[in-house]
Order: sequence, then C-alpha cells, then structure tokens
Amino acid sequence: MTDAKFKNRHIISMRDLDRSGMDYLIETAAAIEEGRLQPDMKGKIASLLFFEPSTRTSFSFESAMKRMGGEAMLMKGTGSTSVAKGESFADTLRTIERYSDIIVIRHAVEGTARLASEVVKIPVVNAGDGANQHPTQALLDLYSIKKTHGTLDNLKIGLVGDLRFGRTVHSLAQALASYNPEFYFISPGFLEMPEHIKANLTARGIKYTELHEIEPVVPELDIMYVTRIQKERFADPEDYEKLKGSYIIDLKTIENAKESMKILHPLPRVDEIAVEVDSSPHAYYFDQAENGVYMRQAILSILTGAVK
Ligand code: CP
Repeated sequence: MTDAKFKNRHIISMRDLDRSGMDYLIETAAAIEEGRLQPDMKGKIASLLFFEPSTRTSFSFESAMKRMGGEAMLMKGTGSTSVAKGESFADTLRTIERYSDIIVIRHAVEGTARLASEVVKIPVVNAGDGANQHPTQALLDLYSIKKTHGTLDNLKIGLVGDLRFGRTVHSLAQALASYNPEFYFISPGFLEMPEHIKANLTARGIKYTELHEIEPVVPELDIMYVTRIQKERFADPEDYEKLKGSYIIDLKTIENAKESMKILHPLPRVDEIAVEVDSSPHAYYFDQAENGVYMRQAILSILTGAVK
C-alpha cells in the first residue's frame, strides 16, 4: 500500500503526493500524536544531511527518530566531512547510503534532493532545496490546519510575504490545491508567487487573488500563513533592503479577523509577526513547529516500512 502512495518511497516534491497520500500521512501523524500508533524504529538509522542552516527541520527529524527508538546522524554544514577535501556529492551520498536506512537532505541548490534520490537506493526526503520545495513543511502545515479547523476542504488561505523565494509556500500551495482552497497571495510585486505555481493552480481550477496589502482580506481568512523575506536568496542585497519589513503583522492588523482564524509561520521569523501577537488566540506557529515532530515520525516510519 505504501509504495502505491509514495512514488519510489521518496518525498521530493508535493507533486509526488496525491490527496490519498497526504491524508494517509496526516492520519498517521494524528495516530502517533494521540498514542494510538507507536512505530518501532529500533535498529534504523536516519542520516540528516543539512548543507544549509536549520533549527526546526533538523532537530524535529532527529527528535522524531529518537522518539521512535531509532538513531539519527546529523550533519550540519560540510566543514567536518570529506566534502571539504573535494569529495563529490554523488560519492558522499553513495557512502552515507551504506550507513543509513533513510536520507533527509537540505541544500541551497534546487533539484539536489531529486538528484540524491537518483544516486541512492534508500528513501530520500527533501528537507528544502533552494527556493524550490519544502514538502515535509507543507505536510506538517496541512496537519496543523486539519487540527485547527477540523478539515482541509474549502478554506480561505492567505499566503503573506516572500512568495517568490519562500519554498514553503510553493509546496503548501500545491498541497492545498487538492482540497479546493481559495487563495489570497499577498506580497510585494517583486516577490509574487512564481508563474509555474499559478499556472498549475489555474489548470487545477483553483481560485487565487494577488494583492499587495493584507488588511482588506484579513476578515475573509481562515488561515494567515506568514513568511520571512528570504534575505539569503536575493542576488542584489539592495533589493532586500528595499523589501524587508514589507509586512509586519501586529494586533491591529488582525483586529477584524474571524475568531477561528489562525496565524501560521514556518519560522524562523525576523520581524514579520510582532511578539505581541504570540499571546493572541490566533497565534499557532509554535504549536505548528511541534506538529513537525509527529508528521516527521509518520514520514520516517512509513518510508522505511516500519509502518505499512
Ligand atoms: N521551517 C523551517 O524549515 O525551519 P528551519 O529552517 O529552522 O528548519
């Protein structure tokens, strides 16, 4: 059953997953969180290869393995590996494959996770490749929305901030497209959602509206998904200087929000959500980060065959 839902047992892009695969992961994460399912990963080893910085993704994958009785080997940067001596990416992957049951990889270059999945025979999970995709974040976002609203269907979702370089919103837009959302894309002109994502949504009959200001749509939203302006992806630092601070969500911004509206953010935040919002009933972003552990337990246990 698992192979049919997860093409080649990798998770590289949300395009690899259909609604039944996403629902299966969400149900599995819920069963793990509620204690109805306790996957046994004893004897299994995950290699977590982080060529780019991370807090939540790297530590939540490590926590997920350890909570299931497995082991995790975490690489943060290449400085202490033989990559620093000139070893190729392919040789590095082929070696780590011999020591592991699953590889989780984050890299600044788009397509690196896909390449890794073509080099090795064990499952590969994309933990973020450049400005392209971050599918495990999208999956934990779906799980978070399901928990807050009881459903993923027919919701009004505002994606706010850097929709051009923010990989989490690319994956999330594609994931939610299976659940008939109505999207509001709120960004500066320079940071609009890429054309290929919008074309895919249009082809799937999904309605979206593009705006530069957030206040007019706040009362409509079920979910406000805020993102950081991705400083590290700008070719010209002057462009970043012009756009930083474009949106700062404070208590005034959300004063007309529905009572049930929740604010999500993949984190880290810089200044796009004021700290005063953290104690609001709308704030959900730290619970969202916790949900990452349950979803990553589901991903690791399903892809390695510990859960069928
Ligand atoms: N959300 C997310 O990917 O956070 P990290 O960069 O800290 O892993």
